[in-house]
Amino acid sequence: MPQVDDARVLIDAALRDDAAVFQLTEDRAIVATVDFFAPIVDDPYAFGAIAAANALSDIYAMGATPLLALNLVAWPRDPALLELLGETLRGGSDVVGQAGAFLLGGHSIDDKEPKYGLVAVGEVHPEQVINNAGAQPGDMLVLTKPLGTGILSTAVKREMIPESDIRAAIISMSTLNAGAANAMRAVGTAVHAATDVTGFGLLGHLRNMLEASGVNARISAGSLPIFDGVRGLIVKDAVPGGTARNLEAAREYTEFIAGLEKTDQLLLADAQTSGGLLIAVTASHSQNLIAALQDNETPTASIIGEITHRGAGLIEVVA
Ligand code: CO
Ligand code: CO
Repeated sequence: MPQVDDARVLIDAALRDDAAVFQLTEDRAIVATVDFFAPIVDDPYAFGAIAAANALSDIYAMGATPLLALNLVAWPRDPALLELLGETLRGGSDVVGQAGAFLLGGHSIDDKEPKYGLVAVGEVHPEQVINNAGAQPGDMLVLTKPLGTGILSTAVKREMIPESDIRAAIISMSTLNAGAANAMRAVGTAVHAATDVTGFGLLGHLRNMLEASGVNARISAGSLPIFDGVRGLIVKDAVPGGTARNLEAAREYTEFIAGLEKTDQLLLADAQTSGGLLIAVTASHSQNLIAALQDNETPTASIIGEITHRGAGLIEVVA
């Protein structure tokens, strides 16, 4: 991408952040992001809800508040499938409404494979932007949703389990990261960095944060929040291609403790859809953040590791 040099651009793709932040006035900046993908569940309403929660997640990860959204639709021109589109749009619109934002339009094209997503625009005070950079040695790492959505949706796609078995994951993926963003605001400047965990898996998104911050981290595999049934499905090889590729890429910068099972390694790399926020917080305020997350009823509020020292973005995984 071409480099942009303008003082109003507070955040662009250079720091591998999730959303662009553009300053309008001394105390106002807009945050913009876009996300879309092919259905990951059969239930069209749930697909729409998940796609909207996922698109809005990048607004919350920056500490911003959503204002409006636009639909992006690619759908087959088959009348039978148009009914499913209606349900998908209803799911998306409901979640945008939960965010307190307005769905104001969009664009659709004819496509053999359905895809849905949204452009989302939010607002933040320029001094309250939370980005990938800023994690400090000694910070605790906190995760706000369990891991395993890639494995679970792959198992459903391969008909190894019925969709009804992954209800908890569908609810989590449809849940806005609004509660996590509220909790970060409540803790204030003790939050040093945040990102949301999506397609690159926990290790990939953590790596972006570490590189942007110039620090290393240690993750404790035993402390990871995981949806029920995921470990057994990994053993049965319900591993999406993206997850396997994520793990290969992660080996370049991750040291797994000797004897750590492949199951744990794949879990750490599992490509998530609409995952939780990964937050670096001062150790002395980590319990305040956990309490604030619990007050906001986030799907989980788990300390999963810590920032160890200045470094090139290396990750150590212990048992
Ligand atoms: Co993101
Ligand atoms: Co995104």
